[in-house]
Amino acid sequence: MDNRKSIEEVRADFPSLKRLRKGKPPIYLDNACTTLAPGQVIESIREYYTEYPSCSGTRSRHWFAQEVSERIEGNTRKGLKGSRQIIAEFINAGSEKEIIFTLNTTHAINTVALGFPFQPGDVVLLTDKEHNSNLVPWLKLQKTGRIKVDFTAPNDQDSFDLDAFERKVKTNRVKLVSMAYTSNVTGYTIPAKEIIKIAHQYGALVLLDGAQAVPHQTVDVQNLDVDFLTFSLHKMCGPRGVGVLYGKKEFLGQNPHEEDEAEHVIAPAILGGGTVADSTYHSYTLMLPPDRFEAGVQNYPAQIAAGVAIQYLQQIGMDRIRDHETSLNHFLTKELIHRYGDTGWFRIIGPQAASQRGGILTFEVKRPNAVGIAVELSEKNNVMIRDSVFCVHSYFNKMFGPEWTRPISHSDHRMVYRVSWYFYNTIEECQAFLETLDDVFKERGYI
Ligand SMILES: Cc1ncc(COP(=O)(O)O)c(C=O)c1O
Repeated sequence: MDNRKSIEEVRADFPSLKRLRKGKPPIYLDNACTTLAPGQVIESIREYYTEYPSCSGTRSRHWFAQEVSERIEGNTRKGLKGSRQIIAEFINAGSEKEIIFTLNTTHAINTVALGFPFQPGDVVLLTDKEHNSNLVPWLKLQKTGRIKVDFTAPNDQDSFDLDAFERKVKTNRVKLVSMAYTSNVTGYTIPAKEIIKIAHQYGALVLLDGAQAVPHQTVDVQNLDVDFLTFSLHKMCGPRGVGVLYGKKEFLGQNPHEEDEAEHVIAPAILGGGTVADSTYHSYTLMLPPDRFEAGVQNYPAQIAAGVAIQYLQQIGMDRIRDHETSLNHFLTKELIHRYGDTGWFRIIGPQAASQRGGILTFEVKRPNAVGIAVELSEKNNVMIRDSVFCVHSYFNKMFGPEWTRPISHSDHRMVYRVSWYFYNTIEECQAFLETLDDVFKERGYI
């Protein structure tokens, strides 16, 4: 794992891993939902509330406000990096002005959906497995007649079909391609660089929903040439309630009057305190980005802790995180296939090669009364995984038919379970998951 920290030392940073229930520690394998927070992140939040619990220096000019601002915007005179710069460097943005703080990925995607100047007839192109956060905002726009939503299908191996994608972009009026960089259903990472190249060739912009990618691998926005990238800090050891919208400078605007902006510039959908340079009873002028997109008093402790979380990940090393996750996936995939691969009722969803599924393994159990396994794993051995549809209803409805979670016939019972890990999870935890799952299957008479 890390040169400086062994996995035991890393785990010691996470207070929640020290908890015991029925004398046993937690086995947290629900990291695609949200991750655990290390003491360093928790401490930075405690420090904010105890030491400088005020708004930032963009509003007030006093001592506490300066301390808040220094931690978010930095202080070049003192050689201090703020969270915004730390995040910009982490994803290799050209400027920290391209980093907009949002509430989360959902808010970041909605910022683009509500602010982009779409023209009737414009198409937004998605994959077939988008999280509701990257589907419903577009469906809502479609309802108002502003855009048309279209989908590109995967190939037979359930990985990205570049040819099918190119045909769609070539023949439709695609204005924006908006896709999960890594799927929260399968863990599969799309070939983003090739996708962006093709999209740009036909004049379409690209938004990558990086909620499951940015926490798990190096993401370089300049190298990708991506136009928008969204992610949530709570999925990367950071605080809840803060996310990021990265946007190329040219799409964030420079003009104080929205109506004078170029046609591809996103307008802020929510305005108020902190977003305007001036206002009269009749008009207002906008601040420059990122401020124009950050309305109202911000979640300062979370924005500060965001920088701490990212520095923590950098200390671990993104390449090591990726390697560790992949090696656990190889282990789990091999074991699960060995145990249940030929039963006919157990199936891994997505590409079958573990190397293509990062830190996620989702499987279907098609047996009578297949529900409730996640609860039993937690009750028996503190093993925490996720079940059901992971906010991707559309895909499972397509796969299994509507109402699939309430089938009438026993033979049609099925449930989907997702195991997702991070750099602090161990092979021993994966083993404990497997043994407990085996017990559950035996008790249910599945094996
Ligand atoms: C791929 C993907 N997109 C978007 C989201 C939404 O993230 P948030 O709830 O932090 O806005 C998630 C969360 O699970 C996700 O996995």
